[in-house]
Amino acid sequence: MSKERILVTSALPYANGPIHLGHLSGAYLPADIFVRYHRSKGSDIIYVCGSDEHGVPITITADKENVAPKVIIDRFHEANKKSFERFGMSFDIYSRTSLPVHHKTARTFFSNFFDAGLLKEKKSFHFYDEKVKMFLPDRYVEGTCPKCGYEEARSDECEKCGALYDPSELVNPKSKISGDTPILKETSHWYFPLGDFQKRLEQYINENNKKFNWKENVLQYCRGWFKDGLKDRAVTRDLDWGIKVPLENAEGKVIYVWFEAVLGYISATKDLFNNNGDEEGWRNYWQNPDTRYIAFIGKDNTVFHTIIFPAMLLAWNDNNSDKYILPENVPANEFLNFEGKKFSKSRGWGIDVSEFLDLFPADSLRYTLASNLPENKDTDFYWKEFQAKNNSELADILGNFINRTFTFAHKHFDGEVPYAGNYSELDNLMINELKSYPRKVGSLIESYKIKDAVLEMMNLARAANKYFNDSKPWETLKTDKEKCAVCINLSLQTIYTLAFIFEPVTPFISEKLLKMLNVVSRVNWFESGNLNLQPGHKLNKPEILFNKIEDDKIEAQINKLGKTENGESEMELIDYEDFSRIDLRIARIINAEIIPKSDKLLKIQVETDKETRQIVAGIAKHYSPDELKGRKIIIVSNLKPAKLFGHESNGMLLAVETDNGDLKVIEPDVNASIGSKVK
Ligand code: 2FM
Ligand code: ZN
Repeated sequence: MSKERILVTSALPYANGPIHLGHLSGAYLPADIFVRYHRSKGSDIIYVCGSDEHGVPITITADKENVAPKVIIDRFHEANKKSFERFGMSFDIYSRTSLPVHHKTARTFFSNFFDAGLLKEKKSFHFYDEKVKMFLPDRYVEGTCPKCGYEEARSDECEKCGALYDPSELVNPKSKISGDTPILKETSHWYFPLGDFQKRLEQYINENNKKFNWKENVLQYCRGWFKDGLKDRAVTRDLDWGIKVPLENAEGKVIYVWFEAVLGYISATKDLFNNNGDEEGWRNYWQNPDTRYIAFIGKDNTVFHTIIFPAMLLAWNDNNSDKYILPENVPANEFLNFEGKKFSKSRGWGIDVSEFLDLFPADSLRYTLASNLPENKDTDFYWKEFQAKNNSELADILGNFINRTFTFAHKHFDGEVPYAGNYSELDNLMINELKSYPRKVGSLIESYKIKDAVLEMMNLARAANKYFNDSKPWETLKTDKEKCAVCINLSLQTIYTLAFIFEPVTPFISEKLLKMLNVVSRVNWFESGNLNLQPGHKLNKPEILFNKIEDDKIEAQINKLGKTENGESEMELIDYEDFSRIDLRIARIINAEIIPKSDKLLKIQVETDKETRQIVAGIAKHYSPDELKGRKIIIVSNLKPAKLFGHESNGMLLAVETDNGDLKVIEPDVNASIGSKVK
């Protein structure tokens, strides 16, 4: 049987900032696990990625630092490439879209579409900042999503609900450069007729879903866009930075970053084969109908990979004799959050990959992230969970089994695989277990159920510990050494299998394990569940595989959360409008009483110019009821009513924690009558 040929891509990250854990969980780690598994089973597979170096995200970063975009892309391309390497990403190439090979590919597609009459020049209105006198590309404009009301939506796409819309539909637009409301000014752009491809795209997705079982979250996104109806899309922008539009009279225009970035996968493959001196080699992966193409991405990239890129490939195929394959599947992941919130560099929330790997081993991170991938819904990274995964699973289950077995083999069997004679029922059960695992884990990885695959990997280590315990080699060593030898033999065979099936997730540990087992030539993934070690095979000395992570190392990270580089907690800024919604008033306390059985709460009656109302406040430890009567205070008067300890509370009083930890109500030292508004 000929080998399966597979092309795998992961979204090309913008070279405008460091890679964080959220990126890894979305588009990189799952792909790497898939690829490593396929290599181990002998598929002919290439894994392609690289930096996305054009587009507004890069220019925004460059503007902020007041440097040229080239400075930014050079810095982050190198940094991200290095971080991925340290994390164990096994790309065959990590290319970049600033390379001539990519500019040429992108221009060729553009010109080809233009020559075929597909691209139409149209005048339309785009956001223009009159203060800085420039057209504002998508990400320079923020406003409220016309579909879901999300307030930080981009000019033509909403990160929250995934909607695509015309910039003129954006509610309350603001320029991110000047903060002003931009005007809509006429400019001309070239449009790709996406709408003309809707039928064929629907058919493509339906057929591939039937054959390859697409993920429900991805299908739902697609259905949403189809329901709204696909429209023509502008594929040029008014910008300096990017790939110049290869037409006359196109001064100051570049190709829209998404139109060229997806072609970056093709360019990166060309780059890979060019480096190997095989200039046509890329075609076997992109233009051979026998090749399977899988595009790994995070959910915010879905439309570009399930709709726009396929439409571009269909358009090429309509007009050219060399025909591209389309993705057979786009297994997009949802988002990973960090300790319950979105990653945010400016708010000090989250951690970069390189920072993480300065502190902890890559495999511990890989294992933790892989066990908790946002495959069907958003998930969270928690430091405590990371510690538990490392200490209680990797070290206590996997590490412990390996350690016991190696110690035993070196101490009692001269560091060799002992001869195994008669198998008991218990031994046979373990042998069958071993045989079943490569297939079980493999089929889960093939269906993109990576989280479940990781669970199964650790289940084999659990089964192995149980086998070791039930076999009691420390007893049979004295009573029946042959029986003891069987247990150690099978335990070593199990370590062999574990080294293989864990390899996609923990490649560094697996490499160490194979070295400890003194294995030089590898078997195929599916044979790794057989009894591969011959009796008498010499083992190497064990190495330290896992270190427990101490509480203080984790506490230190938790304490750093929400602090920026200079150690300060960065405040979340609100608009004046947010503040103005709070109605603060001067009021007077006319009565206060203890709430029985509550040691913190007091029931307080306050009067304003209009009314008397009841507020329940947590100040019983700081004031007796009598102390409060008659005081002039400030209340939040438009707080929604709530019930505390069964008592209705209408509003809130303002108090401050003093330096010695006491709580004091704020008493305005001014001549203002009760009911006055505090501004
Ligand atoms: O979201 C991003 O980081 C984009 N640079 C992904 C691009 S994927 C592909 F089109 F290259
Ligand atoms: Zn929205």
